[in-house]
Amino acid sequence: MRKAPFRIAVFASGSGSNFQAIADAVKAGRLDVTIELLVCDRPQAKVVERAREAGIPVFTFNPKEYASRQAYEQEILRQLQDKQVELVVLAGYMRILTEVLVEAYWGRMLNIHPSLLPSFPGLHAVRQALAHGVKVTGVTVHLVDGGLDSGPILAQRALAIENGDTEEDLEKRIHPIEHDLYPQVIQDIVQGAIDLDRIAKDHNSTIDRMNNP
Ligand code: GRF
Repeated sequence: MRKAPFRIAVFASGSGSNFQAIADAVKAGRLDVTIELLVCDRPQAKVVERAREAGIPVFTFNPKEYASRQAYEQEILRQLQDKQVELVVLAGYMRILTEVLVEAYWGRMLNIHPSLLPSFPGLHAVRQALAHGVKVTGVTVHLVDGGLDSGPILAQRALAIENGDTEEDLEKRIHPIEHDLYPQVIQDIVQGAIDLDRIAKDHNSTIDRMNNP
C-alpha cells in the first residue's frame, strides 16, 4: 500500500458545496488525499472563496480569453501536470470537456451527477426526474468519458420522491447524499476498493468489442 497521499484536483463552477465536503473530509482525516488545486471557470464563484479559506491553490480562468476550449484545457493540463495530479474530481463543473483533458485523464477523472444515470443526463437532472414522474431518483458517481454523463458508473445512491416534492425540496435531500457519497468513493479509490484501472480497462474492451463485433 502506498504511503504518499493521492494528489487530486477539484473542478467546480458554482457554490462548491461538494468541494467543501471533500475538503472537510480531508481535514477530518477521513480522506487520504491532498487537494492540489481548485480549477474554476468563474472567478466570482463562491467555491473560489471556499478554496481560499481552506488554503487550497486556485486556478481561475475566463473561457472567453482563450481562442478555443482546447486552448484553456491545455493550460489547465499544464497546471495539473505541474502539480502531479493523479485524480481529477468534477464537482459541479459546468463546461463541456474536450479530448485534451478527457484523454489525458481517462480512468482518472470522476464526476457526480444528481440522478440515477443513465436516466436524466445533462442539465437540470432533478427537474427532468420530476417532469417524468419517477418515484425514485438519486446520485451517481461515474468515470468521465467523451459523452454527456455517460462514463462507467462507480457508485449510486437512491432516494424516494414524495408526492408534492418540488425541485428545491429534492435538491435539499440530494445534496447531503452527494456530500456523503463523493468523499467515500474517493476514499474507496485511494484504498483500492474501487479499482479504476480495471474499470477503465473493462470499459475499453467493451468499446472495442462493440466496434469490432
Ligand atoms: C451537484 O448537485 C452535482 O451533482 C452537480 O452540480 C451540483 C454542484 O453543487 N454536478 P455544488 O456546487 O457542489 O454545491
